[in-house]
Amino acid sequence: MTHALTGKIALITGAAGAIGLATAILLAARGALIVATDMEDADFGPLRAAIPDEGHLLVLEADVTDEAAFGAVVAQTVERFGTIDIFFNNAGIEGPVAPIPDFPTDGFRKVMEVNVTGIFLGLKLVIPIMAKAGLGSIINSSSVAGMTGAAGLCAYVASKHAVLGLTRAAAVEWGAKGIRVNCINPGPIESRMMTSIEEGASPGAAAEVHDGFAATIPMKRYGTPDEVAGVVAFLASDDAAYVNGAAYTVDGGMTAA
Ligand SMILES: NC(=O)c1ccc[n+]([C@@H]2O[C@H](COP(=O)([O-])OP(=O)(O)OC[C@H]3O[C@@H](n4cnc5c(N)ncnc54)[C@H](O)[C@@H]3O)[C@@H](O)[C@H]2O)c1
Repeated sequence: MTHALTGKIALITGAAGAIGLATAILLAARGALIVATDMEDADFGPLRAAIPDEGHLLVLEADVTDEAAFGAVVAQTVERFGTIDIFFNNAGIEGPVAPIPDFPTDGFRKVMEVNVTGIFLGLKLVIPIMAKAGLGSIINSSSVAGMTGAAGLCAYVASKHAVLGLTRAAAVEWGAKGIRVNCINPGPIESRMMTSIEEGASPGAAAEVHDGFAATIPMKRYGTPDEVAGVVAFLASDDAAYVNGAAYTVDGGMTAA
């Protein structure tokens, strides 16, 4: 099987969202056992419907900015499955869309708290588990906004650049212990998050903004959550055994243009 993940234990944050859900389904299809976590009010229905086998799916609720709650998720994962082989550190928010002088400061702080502190806490909590086993693959969710600027999205851009920095810091620090740490940098993906950004950029004209963004992408379309999941599955697998500290764009050529 391509990028087989038979028997691997995969912890996924933001697992009820578009990319987390697609990735959970793909990793499960390749043989991984899934621990899916998201906010208390998240809709886990589609996930439970897609992976009905309770032996292959454990759903746990936690806010990734809450160290104690996130720590409890990690502890319960280890208690149930013994270790964590794959960690998709994926939860994130887009935050407000506004030019810097108008950008709400509390909105800026919130984006940094979820997208940077949340990713940091994931690394802090999961790395010791993987270090004990002497192996593991961590995939952080950055974005093309972690590599280039985007008007109206200062907090999101800053936070996703920080995710790239955390990825490189962790890869350098833990490579010798058998832990690979990489990030994915998706471009616009057909999803609630992109619709929210489009609507924020031009209220009432999301469809026009969508088409305008798509026209700038060499492949002339947005990506799909499944197309992101495929890259995560590769990075999670032994086929990526020598890939460490890398940033994988999944953007239809957007950042190459
Ligand atoms: N959708 C895109 O176009 C796109 C592009 C590039 C990068 N990304 C990144 O990919 C990741 C997933 O995006 P998505 O499109 O699936 O978004 P989404 O909003 O569908 O999913 C994100 C999930 O994270 C969860 N979440 C948010 N804050 C949380 C918190 N404090 N604790 C726990 N869970 C929390 C949400 O409940 C949600 O289910 C994000 O980090 C996002 O920034 C998305």
